Amino acid sequence: MLLFKKESDLRIYLQQKKEKKALIGFVPTMGALHNGHLSLIREARRETDMVVCSIFVNPTQFNEQKDLDTYPRTPHKDIELLSRVGCDVLFMPGADEIYPPGLNTRIDLDFKSLDKVMEGAFRPGHFEGVAQVVKRLLDIVEPDGLYMGQKDFQQLTIIGYMIDQLGIPTKLVSCPIIREENGLAMSSRNVRLEKGLRKRAVVIYQTLLQAKDWIQEMSPREIEEKALKALAIPGFRPEYFKVVDARTLQEVDQLEKDHPLVACAAVWAGEVRLIDNMFLS
Ligand code: PAJ
Repeated sequence: MLLFKKESDLRIYLQQKKEKKALIGFVPTMGALHNGHLSLIREARRETDMVVCSIFVNPTQFNEQKDLDTYPRTPHKDIELLSRVGCDVLFMPGADEIYPPGLNTRIDLDFKSLDKVMEGAFRPGHFEGVAQVVKRLLDIVEPDGLYMGQKDFQQLTIIGYMIDQLGIPTKLVSCPIIREENGLAMSSRNVRLEKGLRKRAVVIYQTLLQAKDWIQEMSPREIEEKALKALAIPGFRPEYFKVVDARTLQEVDQLEKDHPLVACAAVWAGEVRLIDNMFLS
């Protein structure tokens, strides 16, 4: 695996590969890699000739300084995991490479209401930061395929919208959520969970599973109310539980044919904020 820190070096290298018609798969991450991330690399490997992964803890998408400061960083382990899983190129830029002085990287795009709800409502500015860094990385890598996890469902929807609206010639591939044995969705933040909380955090997965049953006989609002109660166990504080249209991310009043619904949750487990989601139909 080759490691690049400079945009210019990476561009030169990728240009040579593109001239030889290599299909490039790209997996952007913030590091502290786990099996969820590695599943994206594997999927990209299956579908393309060369996989580029980036590790950059993007300051512009953190709405709390404390979250940025405590975000886990494990570069040596990440490099080992990536080489083991067959990643070809790792891009690990510093902030001055991604946001060089004088370059305007802000995205001027109306996301309609996609970025106003759920994560957007509770983490102001978060998606502007995500769209900004993903657009910048796409400009550098110019991949054929962009591989992202369904774990961050709203992020995936917003990036899909951006790719469409800006006419970026990259295919977005949505990859399934990888879970721990007990069902807890894998997340870099899980390592910050105290042992007992980590065990009990399975309540999020269990509640999502229950919502799948409840949708047969209850309205989305009733489900949300019931789920918030189920999630409020000692040590846990649900921030939201929403049943939304999987395309528009807006609340719906009932289950309708050809309108897939997804349940999305954000829950504080002690000091750690966890998110998860599941298709209900
Ligand atoms: P990060 O949280 O590191 O996640 C990188 C990618 O891994 C995202 O596409 C995310 O959805 C996916 N992922 C995380 N956990 C997963 C799991 N359990 N199963 C499947 N996929 C999983 O998301 C970000 O970084 C950043 O916002 C980023 C897009 C890199 C922009 O900074």
